[in-house]
Parts: sequence; C-alpha cells; structure tokens
Amino acid sequence: MPRGEPQRWAWALTGSGHFFTECLDLIRGLTGIDLFVSRAAAEVLRMYKNKFDLPEGARIFRDTTASAAPVGLLYEGVYHTLVLAPATSNTVAKCVCGISDNLATNVFAQAGKCRIPAIVFACDTAPELETMAPGGLVKVFPRRIDLENTERLAGFEATRVVLSLTELESALAERRRALPHG
Ligand SMILES: Cc1cc2nc3c(=O)[nH]c(=O)nc-3n(C[C@H](O)[C@H](O)[C@H](O)COP(=O)(O)O)c2cc1C
Repeated sequence: MPRGEPQRWAWALTGSGHFFTECLDLIRGLTGIDLFVSRAAAEVLRMYKNKFDLPEGARIFRDTTASAAPVGLLYEGVYHTLVLAPATSNTVAKCVCGISDNLATNVFAQAGKCRIPAIVFACDTAPELETMAPGGLVKVFPRRIDLENTERLAGFEATRVVLSLTELESALAERRRALPHG
C-alpha cells in the first residue's frame, strides 16, 4: 500500500439479478472503491441494461485470468473491507466449501486469509422470494441447500452475512464509522 494513501473498499459483484441494480447504487455512494466483477456479473450487467457509472477513482477488475491475478492487492494492505454483494447461490456455495476458482471466490478466500472483514449480501435468504428478472418480477423458491449454505457462511470468521438491502446499508454505514477516515 503506498504510504499515506487511505485504504479502499473492495467490492465483488456476482451474477445475481436479485438486487444487482440496488448494489450498483450503493457502490456509487462510496469513495475509494475497487470492483471485482465475476464473468456472470459482467453478463448480467448487460442483460439488465445497467452501466457501471462509477465514482471518480474507482477501478474495475474483470475476471480474465486463471489465477485471479488482481487478488494480489489484498495482500498489499490496500483494502479495509470486502463487500460481496449481491452474492449468487453459486458463489455462496463455493465460498462455504472453501473453493476459490474465479475472481469473486478468490477475493473472498484471500480476504479471509488476510483477515480483512467481509460483508456478504446473499441472495437466497428465504424459502420464497420475489426477484427482478430482466423481463420483470418473478417468484423463486431457494432450495434447502441454498438456505443452508447462506447460514453456514454466516458462521465464517470475520464474515457478516446480511439478508436484506436495509441490512446491507446499515453494515456499510457501521463499517464506515469504524474507519479512521470515515
Ligand atoms: C438474468 C440472470 C439473473 C440471475 N439471477 C440470479 C440470482 O438472483 N441468484 C442466483 O443465485 N443466480 C442468478 N443467476 C445465475 C448466475 O448468474 C449463475 O449461477 C452464474 O454461474 C453465477 O456465477 P458467479 O457466482 O461466478 O457470478 C442469474 C442469471 C441470469 C442470466
């Protein structure tokens, strides 16, 4: 980490339509942020006709390398917090099993190994949900395995799993208050 530069937010976006747009809005409200975008997230962004429109100074890292090369930054003290939001059931399942085979799962695993606190907004939070598909609202019924994985992730060290947008907003505000530069 270059001397004197404040630490940044690391935000990993995955390919979940559920609260994708709302998470982009939250990202735009943060300063000092780098985005780590899964391949599916890059596709979903286009399907929902979204654009990043990021705050000045924000950097975007896309999933283009087998080794998830940008995660080296987590070892350099660049980040104070990882936000993984929205987190697909796929990414949550991999994280719970300790798998790190792409950019998003690697960022989560390396944050854990570097003791960087993580906030995860899991998609599958209830047996019945309404979610925004590209064509409008649809009902989905997360399976037992999806709900169990969300619960198991909440037991991970230095990991706060949030289950709603309001809870995500509060977790971000709390974390911001705890930072030396606010
Ligand atoms: C339009 C669209 C919306 C999707 N929404 C969700 C979602 O809300 N939750 C989810 O778990 N997966 C969702 N998926 C499926 C994921 O994108 C897919 O499982 C992908 O492999 C996840 O990769 P990632 O976890 O590496 O981002 C969606 C896919 C599409 C095409």
